[in-house]
Amino acid sequence: MAEGSVVVIGGTQGLGLEVARHYAGQGREVVLAGRDQRRAEAVAAEVGGKTTGLGLDLARPGELADRLAGIGRVAHLALVAIDRDENTIRSFDLEAATSLVTMKLVGFAEVVHQLVPRMDPDASVVLFGGRAKDRPYPGSTMVSTVNGGVAGLVSSLAVELAPIRCNAIHPGIVGDSPYWAAKGEPVLERYRRQVPSGRLTTMADVVGAVVFLLENRSVTGANLYVDAGWLLQ
Ligand SMILES: NC(=O)c1ccc[n+]([C@@H]2O[C@H](COP(=O)([O-])OP(=O)(O)OC[C@H]3O[C@@H](n4cnc5c(N)ncnc54)[C@H](OP(=O)(O)O)[C@@H]3O)[C@@H](O)[C@H]2O)c1
Repeated sequence: MAEGSVVVIGGTQGLGLEVARHYAGQGREVVLAGRDQRRAEAVAAEVGGKTTGLGLDLARPGELADRLAGIGRVAHLALVAIDRDENTIRSFDLEAATSLVTMKLVGFAEVVHQLVPRMDPDASVVLFGGRAKDRPYPGSTMVSTVNGGVAGLVSSLAVELAPIRCNAIHPGIVGDSPYWAAKGEPVLERYRRQVPSGRLTTMADVVGAVVFLLENRSVTGANLYVDAGWLLQ
């Protein structure tokens, strides 16, 4: 097992919080990050165990070196964060689009750049993309774009960082995640009808897949679809 903490960037809610909870429950040192230091600390206290909170803004990549300076050795890094811009190409919010592209592509890359000197050869990285790259939904224009970018970034990182492993996970609609659960039953039912099993991916399914990608010693450069077969029908 790699030495050091589990760092979850975008760990204050949703899928990142579930990943943080999993590793805290295993007795690991966990650092969870979101934009606001006090919120991150409060969430870390709620998660408990050896969990600490960190405030950083991926959309301000020039500040990340300072914000990450206090982190020691890193065993596993999960880059989970997103700030959805709900954009369409005909009604385009340029500022929100620029912020999203910066945070999820430049910000993710800068975090890896800063933390990789603190990783052993058997450490690992997982990046969150998403199936919206192949199956857009209303408002997903830039989400689809950055999630496609994650697939490119992971290929390059897997080669450049080797033997450190780097993989991407691309969930489909995660029905019990805060973002999709808030959309309500009629919307979820529409998506349930699009997957062969009629059952949407859960946050627990995603955590299981993240643990696999972070811990399986033979998997690198993968783009793993955890989407209940969304594109099959
Ligand atoms: N939910 C799904 O069904 C689904 C499907 C496919 C892909 N995904 C992918 O899975 C990942 C997690 O999705 P989610 O639905 O769990 O997200 P979420 O509930 O919206 O949580 C987003 C997280 O990102 C953090 N964050 C937002 N902007 C940030 C910034 N500029 N700098 C640092 N942290 C920031 C938030 O923390 P603060 O608010 O505290 O800053 C929060 O912890 C995303 O990458 C998403 O694209 C999700």
